[in-house]
Amino acid sequence: MKNIVVIGSSGAIGKAFIESYIKDSDIESIFSFSRSGIPIEDKKLQNFFIDIEDEKSIHDAASKIDKSSIDEIIVASGILHNKDFGPEKSIRDLNADNLLKVLKINTIGPALVGKYFIPLLNKKEKSILAFLSARVGSISDNKTGGWYAYRSSKTALNQIIKNFSIELRRTNPNAIIIGLQPGTVDSNLSEPFKRNVKEGNLFTPEYSVSMLKNIIDKASPCDSGKLIAWDGEEINP
Ligand SMILES: NC(=O)c1ccc[n+]([C@@H]2O[C@H](COP(=O)([O-])OP(=O)(O)OC[C@H]3O[C@@H](n4cnc5c(N)ncnc54)[C@H](OP(=O)(O)O)[C@@H]3O)[C@@H](O)[C@H]2O)c1
Repeated sequence: MKNIVVIGSSGAIGKAFIESYIKDSDIESIFSFSRSGIPIEDKKLQNFFIDIEDEKSIHDAASKIDKSSIDEIIVASGILHNKDFGPEKSIRDLNADNLLKVLKINTIGPALVGKYFIPLLNKKEKSILAFLSARVGSISDNKTGGWYAYRSSKTALNQIIKNFSIELRRTNPNAIIIGLQPGTVDSNLSEPFKRNVKEGNLFTPEYSVSMLKNIIDKASPCDSGKLIAWDGEEINP
């Protein structure tokens, strides 16, 4: 029986992971972390607060885990836009505060999640830490430019994932650290851009999560450090 952590459980993708794990008879306990909370109750589920912009909050969150080890950790938090700013269309739009905000949520927070949650990963059997990343973080795939903060925050996240994977080869060879590209998923994050998505290419969170769970289940230590898309494609850095 597995113990699971989902960080960013109030988001569309995070919530779909929680709902899927609740139905999964292999799962013993689910530790759900978010800022705004989720209106789901279940005997397997415990909800806690986390603000991934605050290192102490991440440290305190990890201390809530009362199991000896965790089998799967999903980091589904992230930002593309908020009420004050959207993704940059041009050099003119670059703004230090906005860049910093996006890097804090998409890169620094996940790095610190690694710092406090990696020690909890199961060492005896396969365990996995999966970060929701994005294809637009791939430098070799960048054909259209724009979205400076979001793109670079995910590029840096992909580098952190690679670094974690290298270090864990020595300290926990059963642990797999991967980035996941969920496809374009109907959510608050994609809301302003979804009218540009071709028909059939906008996934429900439930469909995306069912595909991502296949990737997680099939992943082996040789996949550690990679960015893998919902359909199994390995995305080059
Ligand atoms: N949707 C897509 O098409 C798409 C495509 C590629 C990659 N992704 C990635 O998938 C992940 C999930 O996206 P989504 O579509 O599910 O977006 P979403 O519905 O907007 O969810 C974003 C989540 O991030 C959390 N969050 C933001 N700031 C936080 C903070 N300071 N501390 C803790 N949690 C924070 C939000 O929680 P609170 O509101 O509770 O703070 C929310 O749970 C993101 O990393 C995103 O980059 C999404």
